[in-house]
Amino acid sequence: MTPPGTPKLFQPIQLGGITIPNRVVVAPMCQYAAVDGVMQPWHIQQIGSQAASGYGLVILEATGVEPIGRISPACPGLWNDEQEAVLKSLVDGVRTYSDAKLGIQLAHAGRKASTDMPWIGPHYITPENGGWETVGPSPISFNGTWPAPKEATVEDIQRIVKAFGDAAKRSDRAGLDLIEIHATHGYLLHEFFSPLSNKRSDAYGGSFENRARIILEVVAAVRANFAKDKAVGIRITGSDWDEGGVTPDDAAKLAVLLKEAGIDFLHVSSGGLTSTQKITVGPNYQVSFAHTVRKAAPGVPVMAVGMIVTGTQAEQILQDGQADMIALARAVLDEPRWVWRAAEELGVSDFQVHPRFARATPKTWPGYKLKSAPLANAAE
Ligand SMILES: Cc1cc2nc3c(=O)[nH]c(=O)nc-3n(C[C@H](O)[C@H](O)[C@H](O)COP(=O)(O)O)c2cc1C
Repeated sequence: MTPPGTPKLFQPIQLGGITIPNRVVVAPMCQYAAVDGVMQPWHIQQIGSQAASGYGLVILEATGVEPIGRISPACPGLWNDEQEAVLKSLVDGVRTYSDAKLGIQLAHAGRKASTDMPWIGPHYITPENGGWETVGPSPISFNGTWPAPKEATVEDIQRIVKAFGDAAKRSDRAGLDLIEIHATHGYLLHEFFSPLSNKRSDAYGGSFENRARIILEVVAAVRANFAKDKAVGIRITGSDWDEGGVTPDDAAKLAVLLKEAGIDFLHVSSGGLTSTQKITVGPNYQVSFAHTVRKAAPGVPVMAVGMIVTGTQAEQILQDGQADMIALARAVLDEPRWVWRAAEELGVSDFQVHPRFARATPKTWPGYKLKSAPLANAAE
């Protein structure tokens, strides 16, 4: 039972068949640490720490459903037994100490695949250097510099839809609670959805319904291969921030179709489709998109994400009815135990931390107050 007066951020929520203990989500974050698509010790410590810190849900990074669907050669994949076995051992390990729900983002990077790690540079990697030829809805380069992708044939589309279904089956066997389908940030499913990157004239291009077709096929394939008592959601784009691209109204229309398809949650992000986008990043910069989508698909829980930094800010979004959950990326990298601070900020008195951390909470550690006080006070 949630005590009366508990802030919304710390109330549980139901997504499909699973109950998330609170509404703070660790957003998927590429680690560029996999080898041949297999997760490594880096992933164990990163996901392990997040799961031990009290977040309700941790969503593992964009994971390629086929080799050419990875963003970079260092991104994880889920198309073979070794990748599945390592993922399973990670999940099993985390379960021994954490009640956090664990999700995975299944992805295909489309025309933005085969790139280098961001700290080396956003370069396309040629096949001679360990990269590969990319695939997309139409042969249009992302930025005029990277090669145009091969235009996907209907057989390619069928293979990719099946690959999403197969990866969902592997996710299920690996013990994950939730799948998030990646349909934003300019990757393959988003490329099909946006009229800026999709110029096809077949059943997968042209009209709104045709551009949404592959997304709905992927949802059906994932749903059919993931346990019914778990959750399947999707991260969509609220805006392309570019003329002629996806608008919040398009996102709302898509949300209606996704609700009909039985999606368990919607996660609303934006951008990344074109190099000409004019994006304005600031506090809550994507929250209005989440709100638009939430109004269009009532009853489907919606996650908001993007420059949400304080507990009060997160709680206000929920109180205003703009979203049902809050996802954080950079705030968690900056402060892995962000959720403790938010609990303190919002006056949650019964927030349970892992016993191994119990001596360092805002309540038990006198030093906590000094963190935000001028250092001179420390001597007093
Ligand atoms: C290091 C890093 C890696 C990311 N990788 C992914 C990813 O794998 N999938 C995805 O959908 N978004 C990814 N994102 C975007 C975040 O999930 C999030 O939407 C974005 O950073 C805005 O939220 P924030 O302001 O809380 O950081 C990544 C962001 C960061 C900082």
